[in-house]
Amino acid sequence: MKTEINRRAVVFPNGRRNMIEDAKREKDLGSSPTSPSSNADNFIFDEEDGKTILNLFFTLRNAKNDGLLRTGKIFENCDARIHHIETRPARISKNSSEDLEFFVRSEVHGSDVNILINSLKKLADDVRINRDEKVPWFPKKIRDLDKCHHLITKFDPDMDDGHPGYTDAEYKKRRSVITELAFNYKHGDLLPKVEYSCEEVATWREVYRKLTDIYPTHACKQYLDTFRQLERYCSYREDNIPQLHDVSRFLKEKTGFQLRPVAGLVSARDFLASLAFRVFQCTQYIRHPSSPMHSPEPDCCHELLGHVPMLADKEFAQFSQEIGLASLGASDEDIEKLSTLYWFTVEFGLCKENGIIKAYGAGLLSSYGELVHALSNEPEYKPFDPEVTAIQTYQDQTYQPVYFVSESFEDAKAKLRYYCSKIKKPFSIYYDPFTCSIEVLDKPQKIKNTLYQIREELKNLCFALEKLS
Ligand SMILES: [Fe+2]
Repeated sequence: MKTEINRRAVVFPNGRRNMIEDAKREKDLGSSPTSPSSNADNFIFDEEDGKTILNLFFTLRNAKNDGLLRTGKIFENCDARIHHIETRPARISKNSSEDLEFFVRSEVHGSDVNILINSLKKLADDVRINRDEKVPWFPKKIRDLDKCHHLITKFDPDMDDGHPGYTDAEYKKRRSVITELAFNYKHGDLLPKVEYSCEEVATWREVYRKLTDIYPTHACKQYLDTFRQLERYCSYREDNIPQLHDVSRFLKEKTGFQLRPVAGLVSARDFLASLAFRVFQCTQYIRHPSSPMHSPEPDCCHELLGHVPMLADKEFAQFSQEIGLASLGASDEDIEKLSTLYWFTVEFGLCKENGIIKAYGAGLLSSYGELVHALSNEPEYKPFDPEVTAIQTYQDQTYQPVYFVSESFEDAKAKLRYYCSKIKKPFSIYYDPFTCSIEVLDKPQKIKNTLYQIREELKNLCFALEKLS
């Protein structure tokens, strides 16, 4: 039987917020290279402060003469900092048996790269640097997330004539006061508090009442469990919009996730990167009062009602972090696929619960209409398979015609982990939960250190097991 809501043609005028479109655009622009090399010694980390790590190979004819000195001068003139230098007899010697092949790893400003290479070519033979092996910059420390807030402004009320607040100057002024708090935020600051107006609370109330009415029948068990705790510990009530500070503290205790204020929809690469550090970028403004059941951009109703309860579940939190970790340094093609996976899981995912299908996606749990639609007999269901899901065509003009159903979060996490392990990257990473930082495992010693750390933890767990037995 089809429900009333499904017979209505639901159209979102200018589409809905989504990162996939952003990821597609980045890929088409070719802003970062593809197919990184499998040779860990030959890749470049693209650094955001303008400095680039270059791996250069060249051969010097008769290196014992002043060739080496003149080469050094080139690096000095380009203000390049040499990190490592290696030589070996040239494989193909053109002039004498003293020809040497050089490998130089150096740090140089991006604007000097071409000058350096062209100068070297005048002096040396066989100068090699493979630009296709460049790895897009990614945050290594949680503090680096201060650089990850590139906004997509096309869904802003100023830019989008389909936004319900497009002609409402007062709404836009209020929204910009709240977004200013996010612009000024730096990692380690107190999360800003917003004093919501009566009108804003009234909008929240309308959304809250409508959704909480159908959560018991439509939301998955994990969502319902943590929602009850949020009501108890974080003042989730229809007459109160919870503050990020309280919610973030709650999440930190439950799963280590924390919130960070953001001024709008951020780029796919930046948003996914924050998940790697268990940080969720969260808007604080609320949707326009004329359209309580739909917002073209993320707002506090979507974040607090859709995302937050699931981020308090351990398995789901791990699943979200896995997508984030896979995105670090990934090619634009892979960012697009990971964004699509995110869309069909974290935003619009369904799961099985004692044979019955329930919702866990934030886009569903913050949208009454789509939640009813998703669990009607209208859409098509497909089993969650990352290979298939990552290339599924998405719908941002109306409700999704296709949803993916996970057997369980554990199952989804295992499938995702296997999928991510096949993403081609020239390096491996390890997330250190003590320092909230990413270790690039590009040297045997780094891998040994990490293994030692894990072995110590395993020992502790084995002792604990022995004690119990
Ligand atoms: Fe979302």
